[in-house]
Order: sequence, then C-alpha cells, then structure tokens
Amino acid sequence: MGSDKSLLRLAVLASGRGSNLQAIIDSIKNSTLAAKVVVVISDNPEALALERARQEGIPAVSLPPAEYRTKDEYEQRLVEVCEDSQADLVVLAGYMRMLGRTFLKRFPNRVVNIHPSLLPSFPGLHAQRQAIEYGVRFSGCTVHFVDEGMDTGPIILQAVVPVHSNDTEETLAERILVQEHQLYPQALNLIARGQIQIEGRRVRLKE
Ligand code: GAR
Repeated sequence: MGSDKSLLRLAVLASGRGSNLQAIIDSIKNSTLAAKVVVVISDNPEALALERARQEGIPAVSLPPAEYRTKDEYEQRLVEVCEDSQADLVVLAGYMRMLGRTFLKRFPNRVVNIHPSLLPSFPGLHAQRQAIEYGVRFSGCTVHFVDEGMDTGPIILQAVVPVHSNDTEETLAERILVQEHQLYPQALNLIARGQIQIEGRRVRLKE
C-alpha cells in the first residue's frame, strides 16, 4: 500500500455510539476522504465505537481514566497511544471529556472536534437541549480546532438546521446528526488536502 504515505493519519477518540466515526470510515471507503483511521481510542470500554473499529480491522484501544491516578497520567498514556500510531491528527468524535494541556501541547493545532450547535452558542453538554430551551430558530453543528477552553477553538466549518416548534432534544439531535455525518468528513478532507490555514482565531480555507 505505497499510496498510504499520502494519507492523513487519524487517531479517533470516541466515548459512545461512534456514528461520526462510522461516517469518517465510510467516506474513506468511498474515496471522498483521503485519510486513514490508524487507531480508535475510548474512555469507555463499552463504547460501540470500539466495536465499529474492530469490525473494520482498526486497532481499538480502551483507556478508562479510572485506571490512572491523575488526569495527567491518563493524558500521558493517551499521548503515547496517539504517537505510537503515528497519528497526524487527533479527531474527537463524541469524546465527552475535556483534554488538558498535557495532551494538547503535544498536538498543537492538531486536534479537532465536532459539536452539535452553532458555536459559540451552547458549548458543553446537552447542546441540543440548550438550543431548544433558549428558543433559537436555527441550530446546527460546528467542526473546530480544540484549545484548552470548552468548545472555544478556531472554527473550520459549520452547518445549519432549522429548529421546529415541536422539536424535542432527540428530534433536533437527529436532524443535526445528519449534517454532522457530512460536515466532519468534509472538514477532515480540507485538512488532508492542506487547504486550511489558521490565522489567530480565524481559519482560512484555501482554494
Ligand atoms: C454527536 O452529536 C457529537 O456532535 C456530540 O456527541 C454526539 C456523538 O455521536 N459531541 C459532543 O456533544 C461533544 N461536546 P456519535 O458517537 O454517534 O458520533
């Protein structure tokens, strides 16, 4: 597989269902994303994401934080696994923990996340519920670089969906998820093709 050298190597971190992971894998399979998932890591040994990885023959690593004495030790192990797999980019796909400095300083501007709201609105947990409770007419999803804040890093791409008056957290989440599955592979492909440049807070998309 000589062409592998040109592929962006992704370490995917996921805590649960892994539908975004699957969308990434599917985009790689249908050649719309020039990348390779080199490892899937979860803080949750039961995560369906790990099972999805195994089914695809991708190394699946379970790293429950409770097995480490401190967050620092946990993150050091996380760094090791990502470095051992020679990942170019760390992709958070439903990873429900904040990464701290120990991890982020080893991957400067090389960690991305997807969040189910139009940031900077509704960061943190239950973004869809927050949007409904606030009464916004539109919400969506955001792919962004990760910094030490809560969902605060430079924004790469966003997609918008309407919020209907009879929406529940679940129906809105479902509508947003359809967009997530398109947006994340698209954003990763921009990175893979070198079409992204970070300028302070802003991300320039190069033609
Ligand atoms: C997705 O909706 C993702 O945007 C969200 O968790 C879900 C994971 O679904 N992430 C966050 O809320 C991060 N703060 P998945 O496991 O099926 O990809």
